[in-house]
Amino acid sequence: MQELTYFNGEFVEPGAKVISIDDRGYLFGDSVYEVVRVVKGRCFALSYHQDRLYRSMREMDIPVKMTPDDLTELHEILIEQSEIKEGYIYLQISRGVAPRHHAYDRSKLEPQMLMSIRTLDLDEVNKLGEGVKAIALPDERWEHVDIKTTNLIPNILAQTKAEKKFAYTAILFRDGICTEGATSNVFAVKDGILYTHPADNHILKGITRQMILTRVAPSLGITIIEKEFDRTFVDEADELFFTDTIGGVIPITKLDRNPVSGGKPGAITLRLREALEKLMEEGLPLLTRK
Ligand code: PDD
Repeated sequence: MQELTYFNGEFVEPGAKVISIDDRGYLFGDSVYEVVRVVKGRCFALSYHQDRLYRSMREMDIPVKMTPDDLTELHEILIEQSEIKEGYIYLQISRGVAPRHHAYDRSKLEPQMLMSIRTLDLDEVNKLGEGVKAIALPDERWEHVDIKTTNLIPNILAQTKAEKKFAYTAILFRDGICTEGATSNVFAVKDGILYTHPADNHILKGITRQMILTRVAPSLGITIIEKEFDRTFVDEADELFFTDTIGGVIPITKLDRNPVSGGKPGAITLRLREALEKLMEEGLPLLTRK
């Protein structure tokens, strides 16, 4: 097993100095990215990640040079060559290399693509099932966090504040409304019903969130309502959890100083976590992209 890095068409040594100092991703955070989970040597929900990547590129006006089939093949090559069974693939496409100037000239830029495959410590992922502490912070991001760009400064600052307080991450509030986590989506359970922020420009439309909404919760007969909710609703929720590609469903057992669901993972949360894990192990059925 070997972690690998692939840049613009070739494998490079870990830590190789291949990125130009004039790369707009480096200078401006002018790039988009995806993180795909590798489970049992296969990518989970890759077509969903590709759809979101292409959408991010369209929104950012970055030309698409690769077909979904090309991209799928590259993911498969990385898994095959690395022999990694449990891990994740990071993919980043920057707008390209040009002398520093804020505006870009699409005709003079060649997008740069970086991919890397890394192992995941499954013990750490499993431990998340025991629940995590979160802190509440203001959502200070721009108006288009639905585009998955590497320009993540408010997320980085929020995550660092959370970790300094020994929390796993932060729940963000914009104008009093709970949007999402600093690196994940947020769900609340109240009276057996699942609530989450609608997929508009104020959250990232997480793939794990989509799996919960379209497959996992329906398979368990759990009703879902996508609507905005505030801090009072969060404080009065029976259960709270995060979702993301790496951790799956992550129960929240403490928010600021207050225990959530009696300081233990909630029952519905755990059912969702387990059902998602099963789906990830089985993989999505072929030909059902949506
Ligand atoms: N983070 N919201 C934000 C702000 C995120 O950064 C992420 C993912 C999500 C969940 O999306 P998904 O279910 O597709 O992973 C929601 C990734 C893992 C990251 O930045 O590393």
